[in-house]
Amino acid sequence: MKIRRCAVLFIEPREDLGIDWAALFSGARALSAALRWVALAPHLDRETTIDAAQVAALGAIGQTAWTERADVERQFGAPMLDSLLALGLLLDDDPADNPARERDALLRAQHWRPLSAAAHMFSRWDGMEVDKGMHFPSFEELVQAYGTPPPPALGRGDPAQAIKLPPPLGGALDAQLLQRYTGRNYDPAAVLPLDLLARLLQRTFGAQAERMVAQEAMVLKKTSPSAGGLHPTEAYVLVQRVPGIAPGLYHYHALDHTLAPLAALDAAAASELARQFVADQHWFVDAPVMVVMAARVARNFWKYRNHAKAYRAMMLDAGHLSQTFYLLATEAGMPAFVTAAVNEKAIERAFGLDPLSDAVVAVCGCGVAAAGQTTLELRYEE
Ligand SMILES: Cc1cc2nc3c(=O)[nH]c(=O)nc-3n(C[C@H](O)[C@H](O)[C@H](O)COP(=O)(O)O)c2cc1C
Repeated sequence: MKIRRCAVLFIEPREDLGIDWAALFSGARALSAALRWVALAPHLDRETTIDAAQVAALGAIGQTAWTERADVERQFGAPMLDSLLALGLLLDDDPADNPARERDALLRAQHWRPLSAAAHMFSRWDGMEVDKGMHFPSFEELVQAYGTPPPPALGRGDPAQAIKLPPPLGGALDAQLLQRYTGRNYDPAAVLPLDLLARLLQRTFGAQAERMVAQEAMVLKKTSPSAGGLHPTEAYVLVQRVPGIAPGLYHYHALDHTLAPLAALDAAAASELARQFVADQHWFVDAPVMVVMAARVARNFWKYRNHAKAYRAMMLDAGHLSQTFYLLATEAGMPAFVTAAVNEKAIERAFGLDPLSDAVVAVCGCGVAAAGQTTLELRYEE
């Protein structure tokens, strides 16, 4: 039998801080710190505590070539290899099913940059409730907790030398740019008209033109820029209240301009999923539609293989799309929102997404504003 290490592995000397109660009562230093090695291997969806001997063995076994197990066993012993194989940090070529080896193969096939894979896989949330039982914190509360924030604008260089610019000219975009705000108070009874949903999806996520750039390569032209012209960001839609579209989960097709039903939901289940998606930020839950932006990593990493900037570019792509979405919602007289504080794992389960190949980045949405403002918003007129 042959073995090799998993493709991507980072080992963190993690410090766990705690209170040493015995020391506290005897008047000594009460803060205790315990160190342990944590293996962060993105093909496994968990952190794993290992010991120093396992760290040393992992450091001596390569991740590219398959090595005869018997040769490695002579150095580290069978129990050590068995323990690392059981953890999924070492992989063997036994033809039997091995979920860890399959996940490792998928990770290799996607061309992830190792640090990006670890950053993505280990920053996902499940069951997070960001603000349980509280309201959106006001700036007064934040200042009380953290002190004065750094100044809102930065002065650099000699101010006496600064060139005074003329005031900005008015322009066609001003109406949207100057009315845009993040809505945190949605009318729970209001619907999003189907025509408007169609415009929001097509003009944000849809193809405005298509072009064959090589015999087997098509790129789409969209209203937002995209790294490499690849447009890897897919729109997965949670519908709560759109006349003509049943509550449920859908995928938007960028070329066909269609919504493919993925799961039907009743109103209560749709609202509950919305709450889970945005990590219990109740101020977004009543938006009649939410759009999950999830990047198809194979599309981006097809060009940007094992690339230091590719993950950053995917995050930026979603940011551009969300601004376009905001401006279109504003044009229709509605506030919008975007949030990265999302339970990626709940979203993955709901839509059947694999985080190694479909990276959930953020959730946006929009809807009719409620009459009053109970949660903080920054509107221009105020
Ligand atoms: C990447 C990103 C993440 C955000 N995440 C949240 C969030 O988790 N919760 C929230 O209420 N607003 C979120 N927002 C909205 C900002 O709080 C908002 O843009 C900011 O307060 C400025 O207000 P304005 O959009 O009305 O100008 C996010 C915005 C961006 C661009």
